[in-house]
Amino acid sequence: MRKNVVAGNWKMNTTLQEGVALAKDVNEALKGVTPKCDVVICTPFTHLASVNAVIDTDKLGLGAENCADHKSGAYTGEVSAPMVASTGATYVILGHSERRQYYGETSEILKEKVALALENNLTPIFCIGEVLAERENGIYNEVVKKQIEDALFHLSAEDFGKIILAYEPVWAIGTGKTATPEQAEDMHAHIRSLIAGRYGKEVADNTSILYGGSCKPSNAKELFAKPDIDGGLIGGAALDAASFMGIVTAF
Ligand code: PGA
Repeated sequence: MRKNVVAGNWKMNTTLQEGVALAKDVNEALKGVTPKCDVVICTPFTHLASVNAVIDTDKLGLGAENCADHKSGAYTGEVSAPMVASTGATYVILGHSERRQYYGETSEILKEKVALALENNLTPIFCIGEVLAERENGIYNEVVKKQIEDALFHLSAEDFGKIILAYEPVWAIGTGKTATPEQAEDMHAHIRSLIAGRYGKEVADNTSILYGGSCKPSNAKELFAKPDIDGGLIGGAALDAASFMGIVTAF
């Protein structure tokens, strides 16, 4: 059966020293508890190797927030999937709405990134979600369907089975405006039915689908209680060990 996962997305926050301190705090907090979910932190590239050295990776997974769409070569400033893997990280967030919106990431580009992540044994946390106008126009189900079909449905069932999905309505990210548990559950059930249609019920039942967008200790319990919500991708609330742990322990 699918795993519950709570993953932090630190975005472009913390210096190396601050990031290592935060990772140590989360690692320390996890020593006293046996969470009912896998716990992951996704940090800036610059922090990965140092964070990997101070955490117990059996209890706390480590991931990057992006990787390049090429393996190596003349791509100044880019960081490849093999480089991410060489730090000890085992996850990578791909297709976050901020990457799609500000850095022009398309499904074509994301297909390359997914392939390289899988080739390097990185678990993609693949983000999908509609913007506010699409929610208001009632086309959110179609938008998310197209994002998944275009970037992922060419994969074999085996490869698709290695992916974690994160539904993040763009209007809920960093806005304090969470999707209601009902809105989120409706979308998660929709996503699971799309997966069942393409790969069958077993693969669909085994896929972890996280919710992201202003998830906090105060609303996590209600969200995670829904049958198709298997955890969260946490931005702002992951930058404080106590609030992140408040979400981890919401299961
Ligand atoms: P937020 O971000 O929790 O700050 O809304 C979530 C995300 O973008 O992954």
